[in-house]
Amino acid sequence: MSAPLLVKGKLQLDSPFVLAPLAGYTDLPFRLLCREQGAGLVFSEMISSHGLVQGQQKTGAMLQSIPEERPFVAQLFGAVPEIMAEAARRVCDLPVDAIDLNMGCPVRKVTKRGAGAALMMQMENAAAIVRAVCAASSLPVSVKFRSGKDESHQNAVDFARMAEEAGAAFLTIHGRTWAQAFSGEANWDTIRAVKAAVQIPVIGNGDIDSFALGCRRLEESGCDAVMAGRGALGNPWLFAGTERPQSLTGRMPLICRYLDLCQEYLPLERVIFRIKNQVCRFLGGLSGAVSARQQVLACPSLESIKLCLDRLLLAEDSRQNTFGQ
Ligand SMILES: Cc1cc2nc3c(=O)[nH]c(=O)nc-3n(C[C@H](O)[C@H](O)[C@H](O)COP(=O)(O)O)c2cc1C
Repeated sequence: MSAPLLVKGKLQLDSPFVLAPLAGYTDLPFRLLCREQGAGLVFSEMISSHGLVQGQQKTGAMLQSIPEERPFVAQLFGAVPEIMAEAARRVCDLPVDAIDLNMGCPVRKVTKRGAGAALMMQMENAAAIVRAVCAASSLPVSVKFRSGKDESHQNAVDFARMAEEAGAAFLTIHGRTWAQAFSGEANWDTIRAVKAAVQIPVIGNGDIDSFALGCRRLEESGCDAVMAGRGALGNPWLFAGTERPQSLTGRMPLICRYLDLCQEYLPLERVIFRIKNQVCRFLGGLSGAVSARQQVLACPSLESIKLCLDRLLLAEDSRQNTFGQ
């Protein structure tokens, strides 16, 4: 598979598989884990431009990065061009390789302020944001957007042309409408049409849950890279092109690596809920997953999560021995 060049001289990926921005999940440990498994590019969670400009500590912490995870894209959201530009200036001082502008988030808290997917219906403001951020930034600027507002307002191609004209260096298109949120299927015909409409590189996104499907989508859509979101949760093996192991024993090496990275890089007391959620994702599809998740969610600390996993491993072992008799 060829290694895509997303931005001449600046962003050379070693794989065309990209980890999506996922609020609540794509912190430094998970991004690193996915890079170690072969993801060619990783995105931060969406970061409030207001929060960043106001110097909120939590917002700044979301941009924590280390050289091993690069190339790393920081994603900003907001609706005010000047604030987005100021936030971008601050990001440019950090070890970041590109700035992505969120124009696809369907969550009401975001859209009611005119940010996220609401910008797809406010093309002039969206263009003003892209122009302002490009002018303020020494880094490549990208835009992540959707296929449109709803089934009867699908303006992805026009939106992509607008973003290109306003200065975007590359684009990510999620092939669902704002109205769909995360339901139904992504429309890869729209993604292919966007790729064909612009000269800049395009990352296609929607429903990629295996390496094989990602390869097929790459070929069919002509996209430069593909992005996996939910399919990568609890499944960084997706990036390595190997099947997710069927047993907890098989999954333990990556779970342990994730927990070690959390220990190294996160303020554990403050993020224990997020860590538990992430561990629960790793248990999906295993026998007894419902009860295992409940046990993990009841853990008060990282140490207790590890002990809980040890107990679950023992239980798996004894089940297998019983079946083997
Ligand atoms: C839990 C969750 C959090 C998300 N957070 C973000 C975000 O912060 N920024 C963003 O652009 N998209 C976000 N998305 C959308 C994903 O990046 C992606 O576009 C979407 O899930 C479709 O890809 P998939 O079908 O591979 O999951 C989020 C999606 C989920 C499920």
